[in-house]
Amino acid sequence: MILKNATIENSEIRKDIRVSDGIFSEIAENLIPAAGEEVVDLGGKLVIPPFIESHVHLDTCLTAGDPCWNMSGTLFEGIECWAKRKDRLSADDVKERVRRAVRLYAGNGVQFIRTHVDVTDPTLTAMKAMIELRDELKDVMDIQIVAFPQEGILSFPNGKNLMIEAMNMGADAVGAIPHFEFTREYSVESLNFAAELAAKTGKLMDVHCDETDDDQSRGLETLAARALEYGLFDKVTASHTCAMHSYNNAYVLRLMRLLKMSRINFVANPLVNTHLEGRADTYPKRRGVTRVKELLAEGINVSFGNDDLFDPWYPMGCGTMRDAAYLGLHVTQMMGYEDILNSYKLVTVNAARTLHLGESYGIKEGNPASFVVMDADNWYEAIANNSAVLCSYRKGRKLAETVPAEKKLLF
Ligand code: FE2
Repeated sequence: MILKNATIENSEIRKDIRVSDGIFSEIAENLIPAAGEEVVDLGGKLVIPPFIESHVHLDTCLTAGDPCWNMSGTLFEGIECWAKRKDRLSADDVKERVRRAVRLYAGNGVQFIRTHVDVTDPTLTAMKAMIELRDELKDVMDIQIVAFPQEGILSFPNGKNLMIEAMNMGADAVGAIPHFEFTREYSVESLNFAAELAAKTGKLMDVHCDETDDDQSRGLETLAARALEYGLFDKVTASHTCAMHSYNNAYVLRLMRLLKMSRINFVANPLVNTHLEGRADTYPKRRGVTRVKELLAEGINVSFGNDDLFDPWYPMGCGTMRDAAYLGLHVTQMMGYEDILNSYKLVTVNAARTLHLGESYGIKEGNPASFVVMDADNWYEAIANNSAVLCSYRKGRKLAETVPAEKKLLF
């Protein structure tokens, strides 16, 4: 198959893409079709690598309003709602919801998901189900699983052993939640434990780090120091880091040196953090999103995630990465032309670095032919107009397509 006249990642020059046996076999100008070869003219439409959801909690997805709505919209009422829903958690329940969520994501061109799964559950029900789903759904979605101790590692009974058990079951990354631990000592010890577990198992690490407006929440410095000392470097990700929004600038100046040395990745979740943070503020209300612009300016890798998909903590979400990027640009004030044009990277290539997808991700000859085609000439137009994902190909197989709605003006 040849896709003619593709605008690959905003490139000024249109190219043709040949896909054979599920691989990008040739990418060049004016390819000549072989006899009988299928030809699709993209007419200059934008082609980018598949979208990546670098932070979501699939085990709670699609449960908003069941059995109750979070009326205040706060984190704490979300926890109360989830406690009522958690009673009915079963493997079949998790699987049915995750399959639906994966279909939503797949329809929007997402092909890779990193999901955090709560392991502060003595039965590890959701973890077992998710590990089976990872295999079941692998032809349409790569799912990476983080063992996520929602109620703490040291502050939850048997927390350390549950983490070890989850890693032994086959989780891909070690989590932690230092700002939720009972004390600062527990917070530091939980990170020491998690870093050691990541080093021992050779797995990745992704920490819910300082997801609070408390400017004294300093999990990030400990995480970065452990990443450096254990030689884990970019295998480590700091998710949320909302407190960094509230740190004083003198402290951030000092911290930035360590962050660069540690080479850790960051994931910001603009939709959920603008919704849940700043709740203890009257006015002015803090936005609660970490310092994305400043981190990127220092050459530090940052991606955007959705965090929640229609659950007790976030009552919206339809499995698209565009919305996270769109709000993220506004709230971080990254609204310059180049910022907007290149913002697809925050939900594609930057996220690929965080997930350690390696060289096989991306549009280049020899790679698996996985890509999406947008109904736009470049990403600026795509994100600004909320353009449709016309189709999503995975290893040469078309997974989803959209026929854009047609608007008629009757005046
Ligand atoms: Fe999260």
